[in-house]
Amino acid sequence: MEMTFAMIKPNAVKSGLVGRIIDRYISAGLSVCAVKMHQMTSEDARGFYAEHVEKPFFPELEAYMTKGPSVMLALGGENAIAKVRAINGATNPAKAEPGTLRYDFAPSMTENVVHSSDSPASAERELDFWFKKEERYAYEMPS
Ligand code: CMP
Repeated sequence: MEMTFAMIKPNAVKSGLVGRIIDRYISAGLSVCAVKMHQMTSEDARGFYAEHVEKPFFPELEAYMTKGPSVMLALGGENAIAKVRAINGATNPAKAEPGTLRYDFAPSMTENVVHSSDSPASAERELDFWFKKEERYAYEMPS
């Protein structure tokens, strides 16, 4: 079973979208293997988004990600990484397909509602960043 990391970002939490977003993942056959609510510190943002720290959009991203709590998720299932990316839609909501979370709910590139890992290597790094191994419960959804 593949496991990936997903995050419901602060604007989605404050808009009351947590349940609807998690339901989309579960409805696609994914299992919730770990869940935690956490408000990022600047140190968290700089560590988690290390590859973006030098990018021009980072100050805005950091301000947004630290302004309220996010919901961190480990999601499991066959092709979990690709499935979650497809459910989320393109990073830029203006390019997201109808029916994706970002098309349906995201007001801007920064406040793009959700994040998920883009490769097996990033899934491993991002899951390790937020969850200890013993905090992840791998199980398949009944088919
Ligand atoms: P996420 O999938 O969390 O990964 C990096 C985040 O940076 C991205 O979603 C967006 O919220 C934000 N971001 C803002 N501007 C850009 C940009 N030009 N390119 C990529 N990501 C951006």
